[in-house]
Amino acid sequence: MRLWIVTGAIAKSGAFEKSLAQGADLLKKYGIEAELYRRFDINYTLHPDGSVKLFAKGVETTAPDKLFLYGSFDAIMEGIEKTLTSMGTMSINSVESKRIAGSKLSTALLLSKHDIPQAKTMPVYRDTPIELIKKEIGIPLIVKPDNGFGGQGVELIKTEEELKQTLDALPENIHSLLLAQEFISTSKGRDLRVLMVGKKPYAAFVRQAGDPNEFRSNIHQGGHYEDFELTDEIIDLCEKTAKAINLEICGLDLLFGKDGFIIGEINDSPGMKTIIEKVGLDRFLKTLMA
Ligand SMILES: Nc1ncnc2c1ncn2[C@@H]1O[C@H](COP(=O)(O)OP(=O)(O)O)[C@@H](O)[C@H]1O
Ligand SMILES: [Mg+2]
Repeated sequence: MRLWIVTGAIAKSGAFEKSLAQGADLLKKYGIEAELYRRFDINYTLHPDGSVKLFAKGVETTAPDKLFLYGSFDAIMEGIEKTLTSMGTMSINSVESKRIAGSKLSTALLLSKHDIPQAKTMPVYRDTPIELIKKEIGIPLIVKPDNGFGGQGVELIKTEEELKQTLDALPENIHSLLLAQEFISTSKGRDLRVLMVGKKPYAAFVRQAGDPNEFRSNIHQGGHYEDFELTDEIIDLCEKTAKAINLEICGLDLLFGKDGFIIGEINDSPGMKTIIEKVGLDRFLKTLMA
């Protein structure tokens, strides 16, 4: 089986490179030919007779059996996926799923459709009545950009005055929605990252904020990790979510809700170094082959 791993914007490929080099024997054992590329390495020409000429690093080649897209997607990655799938390649973490994971509103709609527990969410604009937000979401509340990451722009709003200021500061035309969300106070400063491979959870760790006043648990915000044992509740919730989003490899962030875990967000490109360490290259490769 030929596998292409194609990395996107801001994706670090070091963990892949190292694992593929160290796992040469395993790859051989499973008959996998794995090639690692940046999205810029792939070119293709669509010929008028309907044929496609494909190039990897400038050398003409044939389409692989499988494609694993890693990192945030853009038009380049999307074009590669469309072209390769038209040539019969199977995409393991599809752009369609990555697009949903990349939007907190799309994720919320998907979770609702599948009856998966989450925090109440409402897009808000400059003129959204404060009374309506208070009634629907309540105060304190969280606001966050639809497509942020690393905790950037995620704020805890504690008073009506703060909420008013936040809405007033919004321009009339916005290109990304601002979402208001009920504050899950039982999860303040912590969440649970679950590593999913082949739609199954393999490891979980609590991410805890460094500063006691910080409500965000992102590592980027100075937090730290601690291993956490998987329970049946976590396994069920995560398997259901991975199936709904249809990502073979992902990280699920769970919040500690009052009545159990809820899904906070879905990360389509979790740290590969940690995945390979915790799950093992063997199992990782088996998933890619399945
Ligand atoms: N509704 C919420 N209630 C409590 N904490 C939250 C809520 N939403 C986000 N957080 C905290 O803020 C962090 C960042 O929010 P998140 O939605 O994951 O955005 P990002 O994509 O920027 O990581 C989360 O990891 C969590 O610790
Ligand atoms: Mg997050």
